[in-house]
Amino acid sequence: MAGIVHILNGPNLNLLGTRETDTYGSQTLADIEAACATRAGELGLSVEFHQTNDEGVLVDRLHAANGKAAAVILNAGAYTHTSIALHDAVRAIEVPVVEVHLSNVYAREDFRHRSMIAPVAAGSIVGFGARGYLLALQAIADMRA
Ligand code: DQA
Repeated sequence: MAGIVHILNGPNLNLLGTRETDTYGSQTLADIEAACATRAGELGLSVEFHQTNDEGVLVDRLHAANGKAAAVILNAGAYTHTSIALHDAVRAIEVPVVEVHLSNVYAREDFRHRSMIAPVAAGSIVGFGARGYLLALQAIADMRA
């Protein structure tokens, strides 16, 4: 499998840069995409980057990654805490999924402490801001080495 990593971002992440910057930082999603493309290149990987506010589109993107992507990085936003459909989709596909959250969800409200993704993910990286995506790419490169 070629080293393509699909990076999927869920609801409200299109507002990064202006949204709750104390929690999520000042980088925009476009900044994160550019940083991921650079790091992926250094690691011998390439990235396809998507954002949607629609839960069903995330399910479709996970299905589409199967058999095409070497790995998926998934920040499902608030759907992380609610979506059995995303849990089932991650479970249904062969491709490893790395869960990423910018904020430390375990240091926030109780409703953010439960992840539907974590039990079916290859691993989770939370609380390191935008750097979390780069750490996920590093983990994927290491897993493939
Ligand atoms: C988030 C954490 C979620 O709880 C929240 O709903 C988000 C962003 C993060 O990256 O920290 O939208 O996934």
